[in-house]
Amino acid sequence: MSKPLEGKVALVTGGSRGIGRAIAQKLAEDGATVAVHYGRNGKSAEEAVAAIKAKGGKAFAIGADLTAKDAAQKLFAAFDAEGKKAGGNGKFDILVNNAGIAPLVGFAETTEAQLDELLAVNVRAPFFIAQEALKRLNDGGRIVNLSSVVARLPAKGLAAYSLTKPAIDSLTKSLAFDLGTRNINVNAVAPGVIQTDMTAAFTGSKEADEGVMSGQALKRIGQGDDIADVVAFLAGPGARWITGQTIEVSGGTTITL
Ligand SMILES: NC(=O)c1ccc[n+]([C@@H]2O[C@H](COP(=O)([O-])OP(=O)(O)OC[C@H]3O[C@@H](n4cnc5c(N)ncnc54)[C@H](OP(=O)(O)O)[C@@H]3O)[C@@H](O)[C@H]2O)c1
Repeated sequence: MSKPLEGKVALVTGGSRGIGRAIAQKLAEDGATVAVHYGRNGKSAEEAVAAIKAKGGKAFAIGADLTAKDAAQKLFAAFDAEGKKAGGNGKFDILVNNAGIAPLVGFAETTEAQLDELLAVNVRAPFFIAQEALKRLNDGGRIVNLSSVVARLPAKGLAAYSLTKPAIDSLTKSLAFDLGTRNINVNAVAPGVIQTDMTAAFTGSKEADEGVMSGQALKRIGQGDDIADVVAFLAGPGARWITGQTIEVSGGTTITL
């Protein structure tokens, strides 16, 4: 039976760890060749690529630090170089803007440097990666951006991180409209708390997990594959008539007062 993403090429920013790694794995299982991006930790990306290949998938790693001003150009220079070695022609079909940071710092303590870094990685990078991607994305392609439940309800004590995700929802709608003429669908996925390095400080112990679950309708801690399955759906043929939407994937986080 043919796979839904057979013949497609995908690029997952921050595909080396956490949610991004689960997305890269799922897209590869669905048949795509996946460029697994990383920032500073090439070893994690190589492990992610090896895990995909071990299951019969196709993947290659590309590095680019998204705090850099010309990050998008550097990322695509690496994509072109490594993609060519993997038999690619520089074109691709699916962009997942997933890389992000969430320093645990309250409003009063946030420095200008911390806010600049957050805006660079979580907002400026996806904006210019999408812009640069336009030259390479095939018509009929897909963009999926990683938003968060904090776009709907800011997280207590995380003012700086929380303000970056409404920007992603806004960008998702703007791009969806602009790219509709090329039949490129643009959507966002907004996770609740997912167990990754990013949330290690407030998941993993019985007490912490119970605190997280108390705000959710579904009583377990979300995992990367809970998000990856929805991203893969949005990247696949079944989502052809969905664009400009943010889909919350959070086990029903704060759905009642
Ligand atoms: N986990 C959650 O509960 C949760 C909830 C809602 C939304 N999200 C969103 O989901 C996305 C993934 O989160 P996660 O929990 O999987 O995070 P994570 O486990 O901390 O992984 C972050 C990924 O982003 C990359 N990255 C970080 N800084 C970078 C930089 N300066 N340049 C290039 N790449 C960089 C990392 O690569 P390196 O290790 O190489 O730097 C890594 O691959 C983020 O956009 C996050 O805001 C997460």
